[in-house]
Amino acid sequence: MFKEKRHLKMAVMIAAVICAALVTAGCADAATNEANAASTPKTKASQITLSWSGDTKTTQDVNWKGSGSTMYVKYAAAKNYDQDGKWTSFTKGKKTTTLEGHYCRYSARITKLTADTKYYYIIGAGSKWTAKRTFTTGIESGDFSFMSLGDVQFVDRNEDYAAWGDDIAAAYKREPGIKFSLMTGDLINVSTEIRDWNAFFNNAMPVFSRIPMMTTSGNHETPVVPSVYLKMMRTGRRGLKRKYIRLITETVILFR
Ligand SMILES: [Fe+2]
Repeated sequence: MFKEKRHLKMAVMIAAVICAALVTAGCADAATNEANAASTPKTKASQITLSWSGDTKTTQDVNWKGSGSTMYVKYAAAKNYDQDGKWTSFTKGKKTTTLEGHYCRYSARITKLTADTKYYYIIGAGSKWTAKRTFTTGIESGDFSFMSLGDVQFVDRNEDYAAWGDDIAAAYKREPGIKFSLMTGDLINVSTEIRDWNAFFNNAMPVFSRIPMMTTSGNHETPVVPSVYLKMMRTGRRGLKRKYIRLITETVILFR
């Protein structure tokens, strides 16, 4: 009798341990188990921005800063997630290290999306994930509006980038239908200065983690070390990315 009770108690304990392990691994979204099982990164993803390097209707590029370990984007159509709370898919981020190894930027290209659809996404690995954010895929046809920006450069780095961040947040609040922003260059003052990039991305994130930021390089991004710009920004098509941004709706528009 005593032995049976002990066995029962042990079975209950084992079941509890298995259940806790499943919860940790994300049994609620088994479709993304690879991301849940990966090592937990030292720091959360930061400086998150969206862009497009493919068809705006079916793809979304998600870019962020991390600490070097493998990281993922988990995503799901908002309509489905609101019903069942499950992440249906994941994409692994491609890591690029620049600025003498001091800056690790990641980019994940999500594909096979549905046009004109709102998605939720989070970034991370293991047990460390960002807050839930949204992106919306491009429309099949019809009118759309976008914001045009350029020359973010500064006199006082922290003060001026913060003011720029406030301005674009206010503009996006006034015009929430904006689909993306075109950035015509000179995002930073010195392309090899990590403090410029940190200030730029920190203040870009509140708006551009929600709508894509499509950039082309200005003279401040490229003359010294062009590769820094190309590692930091992910826009355009392979082979054209230094000179053009390709935006696809019903027609193809090239910006030089
Ligand atoms: Fe300029």
